[in-house]
Amino acid sequence: MTDRYIAFANSNVGRRLVGAFGLPAPVRLERWSAGRTRPVDGALLLGGVGNLGEAVLGFSQRLTDAVYAAVEGQYGLPRWTAEHGPKLKAMVFDASGLAGFDQLIELRNFFQAALKGLDLCPHVVILGRAPESLKDPIAASVQRSLEGFSRSLGKEIRRGGNVQLLYVGKGAEDQLEGALRFFLSPKSAYVSGQVIRLSAYAGQVQDWSRPLVGKRALVTGAARGIGAAIAETLARDGAEVVLLDVPPAKDALDALAARLGGQGVALDICAPDAGEKLVEALPEGVDIVVHNAGITRDKTVAKMSEAFWSSVIDVNLKAPQVLTQALLDAGKLHDDGRVVLLASISGIAGNLGQTNYAMSKAGLIGLAQAWAPALGKKGISINAVAPGFIETQMTAAIPLTIREAGRRMNSMGQGGLPQDVAEAVAWFAQPGSGAVSGQVLRVCGQSLLGA
Ligand SMILES: NC(=O)c1ccc[n+]([C@@H]2O[C@H](COP(=O)([O-])OP(=O)(O)OC[C@H]3O[C@@H](n4cnc5c(N)ncnc54)[C@H](O)[C@@H]3O)[C@@H](O)[C@H]2O)c1
Repeated sequence: MTDRYIAFANSNVGRRLVGAFGLPAPVRLERWSAGRTRPVDGALLLGGVGNLGEAVLGFSQRLTDAVYAAVEGQYGLPRWTAEHGPKLKAMVFDASGLAGFDQLIELRNFFQAALKGLDLCPHVVILGRAPESLKDPIAASVQRSLEGFSRSLGKEIRRGGNVQLLYVGKGAEDQLEGALRFFLSPKSAYVSGQVIRLSAYAGQVQDWSRPLVGKRALVTGAARGIGAAIAETLARDGAEVVLLDVPPAKDALDALAARLGGQGVALDICAPDAGEKLVEALPEGVDIVVHNAGITRDKTVAKMSEAFWSSVIDVNLKAPQVLTQALLDAGKLHDDGRVVLLASISGIAGNLGQTNYAMSKAGLIGLAQAWAPALGKKGISINAVAPGFIETQMTAAIPLTIREAGRRMNSMGQGGLPQDVAEAVAWFAQPGSGAVSGQVLRVCGQSLLGA
């Protein structure tokens, strides 16, 4: 479960050897640590063409106290140059005003200069308008072209940096702070090359240090791995947590629930009465439901037994649908609730030996997309998080050579940690995150698989 190569590549001797032999040199990624308050620990560079930059300017001082502009006088900010400015920890480029092909040069001009002054683990966000919301075909094409740019920049940035594209809908400007607090901070350390659409939404976070205060969250498969990290992170953010796992995992489940001041529910999510039992265990209902429990039973389809096939579909796909429906029918999923489904990049790219697993995970993405409009009427959002290679007991069981390939085949040259997935789930769980629904966020270091 530990990646010894990262420690080696970042040691004094290792750094020299890695350089001499041209080996991959993964950077030790910065993660969010408890007690931290500022999303950006260093300089933020703001630039671009459009009116979203002004919206960011309005709250930028809450992100960091060092905000600069790339152009003299822009936004009334001090000018940044690579020669005279501090190293950059974050960049926001407003591309929403780009409407003609010739204007795209602005991206090259801004980033060519900015890339000369990067700090370690810099975070980049490009802001645009969703192409489908624009009438002018050229403007729509220009906005769509931002995807190719941002994904390529994610592959070029290095130094442990990441790049995302946010399409901001009309009226969603007041949801930018929540999104940037995630995407510009180490909470999104292992997320890169992603495209997310924000829509207008009334909910707002009241206290950024504990955004989930007053919310009750259910996490399935919470006894270990990613589920345990999700429970810890939601509790850190102020939620009261209900942890669910299979009866044989009861001891580990109860110990974690006790440590987090939550409740443990020992239940097999595929049991015929699972919906009923879950509703009984949640008399006061829930605000956040995280369907994390999942299994793999890998075989090529030629050798796949019916039991392998069915068990994966039952746990990974049917149970989340059945349990969510049971909570809805019993009125136990509160209005303005949040549903997060743990998918996988296998469900996007496909993977050898995983027809059953990839199918179940693609099905979850379909569920999020199909259910979003109806649930949205109650202010409930539903999204999928698709992890790539995450260091857990699940991936520790993969044979060494395949494991090493899985770990390195992404823009960051390393596997992610359960905390990386948990931070993405915690962002989706926030009151303001109703602005995002029916979408998939990959937490995969911009994996070459399906990225
Ligand atoms: N680890 C990765 O790299 C990775 C990558 C992509 C997606 N995922 C997904 O993330 C989720 C968590 O993965 P993980 O690596 O932490 O797995 P894990 O095997 O370490 O933990 C899964 C948990 O789910 C529980 N569970 C399984 N079947 C259950 C059932 N029928 N009822 C209740 N609980 C059940 C298990 O007891 C276990 O505690 C899974 O959905 C997995 O498919 C993981």
